[in-house]
Amino acid sequence: MTRKFRVFATCDIGESLELLRQRGYEVEVYPQPEAPPKKLILEKVKSGIDGLITTLRDPIDAEVFEAGKGTLKVVAQIAVGFDNINRADANRYKVPFTHTADVLTEATAEFAFFLMGALARKMWTAEHLTRENKWGYWHPYLPFLGDEVTGKTVAIVGTGRIGLAMIKKCAGFDMNMLCYDPAYQNHEYVKAIQELKDLQYDRGISREKTWIKYVTLDEALTSADFVSVHVPLLREGESTTPTYHLFNERTLRMMKPTAFLVNTSRGPVLDEAALAKALREKWIAGAALDVYEKEPLPADSPLRDPPIEDRCRLLPHFASAARITRLSTDPNRGMAGRCVQGLIDVLESNYGGDFTKMPYVVNKEAFTR
Ligand code: GLV
Repeated sequence: MTRKFRVFATCDIGESLELLRQRGYEVEVYPQPEAPPKKLILEKVKSGIDGLITTLRDPIDAEVFEAGKGTLKVVAQIAVGFDNINRADANRYKVPFTHTADVLTEATAEFAFFLMGALARKMWTAEHLTRENKWGYWHPYLPFLGDEVTGKTVAIVGTGRIGLAMIKKCAGFDMNMLCYDPAYQNHEYVKAIQELKDLQYDRGISREKTWIKYVTLDEALTSADFVSVHVPLLREGESTTPTYHLFNERTLRMMKPTAFLVNTSRGPVLDEAALAKALREKWIAGAALDVYEKEPLPADSPLRDPPIEDRCRLLPHFASAARITRLSTDPNRGMAGRCVQGLIDVLESNYGGDFTKMPYVVNKEAFTR
């Protein structure tokens, strides 16, 4: 039996925790559905745990690393995004942290795509008609029409894993694509998608020739019918290409008045006050959000204003909320499985104990010589 490690999980991540227990680990789980208070996390870390399992709701910073000095060996985050973890602090204390990239890529991209469709075809408003018994007739254009997604132009802002998966989904709907990424471009992928598009046209599968290309942010925003956001949250000072409030009054005003915005990345990438104004004043046609500057979305958020209700879809950080994606114990399929595997890799010194070789460790730079 492996040496016993002590682990505290800030929330229940299902059966994967059982797998740790079967390996001889002592696992304690915060039993409430809400995030634990920071004080409790500090207490647990101070008590000498080896591993901490976190969610995007838990602020992990110098205070936490200081509390775990000499004992805390790994922070395993169940999410791809890790803006709640202060990377510079983790590096200073030399604590590796892991995340669960890849296994939620397709689920998040399909969710962004579904939001785009639900928004454009006004599905929420249309269902309300039916439910509220206001569906009085079938008519060619009354009481309203939606917009097609097929054949339209979408701007993909951020072409990391999830942005590329979104491109693949949009390609299936014969969309033209304007790609933008301030930090990472994948020209090979874009070229392959163009070849796929050309083949579909040549073989009569697509009726029109469509295209995909990298452009500037300005060009993407001014020309697109849909804008889908897939960048990580990077604040000023964290990167040479910060994304905090990338969508603000200036950039929202660049969009066409007929265009729709979808954000499944991180809330603070978008200035919500500016978006509420853009919707009220009809600079853009609509928006669908899954993430917010403050989560859960406060009761007094201007995004809830009734006058913009039919053009503003609000989802509760749900993009990766699919059964297998969230809970599969298989590290190649589920976030829970991958989270636990990341923790095991560090604690059990897999890969010869070399953090730089461990696939789920994020802050490898702290351990390269
Ligand atoms: C969810 O938002 C994630 O980053 O995994």
